[in-house]
Amino acid sequence: MKSIASAPAKIILFGEHFVVHGTKAILAAIDKRVTVTTTFTDNKTIKVNSQLGTIEVPFTASHEEVESEFRPFVFLANRMINSNQNVSGLEITINSDIPVGVGLGSSSACCVAATASIFGLFKEWSSEEILKISIEAEKTIFPDTSGADCTVCTYGGMIEYPSIEKISNTFDLNLLIANSMILHNTKNSVEKVNKFKENNEERFSQLCDLESKLIDEVITAMKNNDTTTFGLKMSENQKYLKEIQVSNDTLHGMISTLNKISLGSKITGAGDGGCIIALVKNENVNEVPALLGKDKECFSAKIDTKGVMWSKI
Ligand code: PMV
Repeated sequence: MKSIASAPAKIILFGEHFVVHGTKAILAAIDKRVTVTTTFTDNKTIKVNSQLGTIEVPFTASHEEVESEFRPFVFLANRMINSNQNVSGLEITINSDIPVGVGLGSSSACCVAATASIFGLFKEWSSEEILKISIEAEKTIFPDTSGADCTVCTYGGMIEYPSIEKISNTFDLNLLIANSMILHNTKNSVEKVNKFKENNEERFSQLCDLESKLIDEVITAMKNNDTTTFGLKMSENQKYLKEIQVSNDTLHGMISTLNKISLGSKITGAGDGGCIIALVKNENVNEVPALLGKDKECFSAKIDTKGVMWSKI
């Protein structure tokens, strides 16, 4: 018997970093997925196979004993084994088309899909239950997570976090994602922003207020089918991200190049590398690869409406 679950990647359209400090954020699940397959074994081990490598540890091992990228899987396997006396081993296999470490929510999608797959060996779980456990799993690698990424990977669509209600965007967003090919570390970027907040308390609080106001304006722009304002707000949000120092020269360069042919662009995710998103005008989409150069990857993102999916065979 196999329990198979998949979850989508995500982009943060507005509000990354500020969401860790309690503001709202707008996120969307996109059409790239990770699939996690779990089977019972008799080996008294937890075995994890992924593109990052394979580990096999005794089923009594704690998640703290393994490399950080494998921690969520061992944590989830431990929880499942501890609550089910008859389980003597698990094999967990991860297949992903989500680039790792570039702000597209690879680790959150893995946590959501792994929760649904591992716990799904016994029964189908509600989205609410999957989300709760997947956030605990993500905290084994990133204790300060806002939970926004796991939420959108679980429910799919576009949401104004913390609400899980899907925004029905009335216009066709032609969103382009460009990868700077610089790996980032979310935990380090979030710690850097914490330091900025400590040293600039009043300004940081103003920026949180500005971000909340900006998100309200984006929601109104979407209701009014106003792509121009939507794009302008992306660029305004980028100014706030630059001020809290999560941008860099490579990202500035990519953003100013794309601003020539788009309605707006910004970092998506933690920054310090990773990806940017741009609202590119339809007639200009084909120009993007030549403008950014061969050393960058870019692709159009479609919004995923399904969220986490699970089956047992
Ligand atoms: O770069 P990512 O995909 O790990 O996104 C991080 C988003 C932050 O707002 C910086 C952190 C969070 O937990 O929301």
